[in-house]
Amino acid sequence: MSDTTERPATTTSPYQRIGGEAGLHRLVDAFYRIMDTDLRAAEIRAMHGPDLNRVNQGVFEWLSGWLGGPPIYIARKGTPCLTSPHRAYAIGETARDQWMLCMRQALAEVEMDPTLRAPLEQAFERLAGMVQNRR
Ligand code: HEM
Repeated sequence: MSDTTERPATTTSPYQRIGGEAGLHRLVDAFYRIMDTDLRAAEIRAMHGPDLNRVNQGVFEWLSGWLGGPPIYIARKGTPCLTSPHRAYAIGETARDQWMLCMRQALAEVEMDPTLRAPLEQAFERLAGMVQNRR
């Protein structure tokens, strides 16, 4: 008798489904390219320093663990807490929406398992809401 049991999709991590390290770099690079060039994200672009490479690397490391890949950020910083790295910035609704605009656009541009895009976008929305520190 053949085994027709299907494995639940959850056996594959979102990190793997996004294309692993290379796929995640494509997403984060697209995100910061959009932030750097789309004037609708001007307010949050101005919060960042001129060089986006360092924050690009930090966000790549953080997302790697969050998506079920290597927890590089936690290994380096000892915590996944995003509150203190953002404490110096007043992040209200506009900033949160601009961040999501860049991420939504990046998710649309980068090739990935199509069933991952919508749940990932929703998860990013919750995350951006958690980083928001002003009403
Ligand atoms: C909601 C809107 C957000 C704004 C306006 C924002 C803004 C910023 C700014 C200005 C920095 C410092 C960059 C620099 O040093 O030049 C930063 C760092 C960072 N952000 Fe955000 N951020 C937002 C949401 C998020 C979210 C949702 C994540 C989760 C992936 C995230 C992850 C990080 C990480 C990992 C760093 C680097 C922290 C470190 O240096 O350890 N941010 N963010």
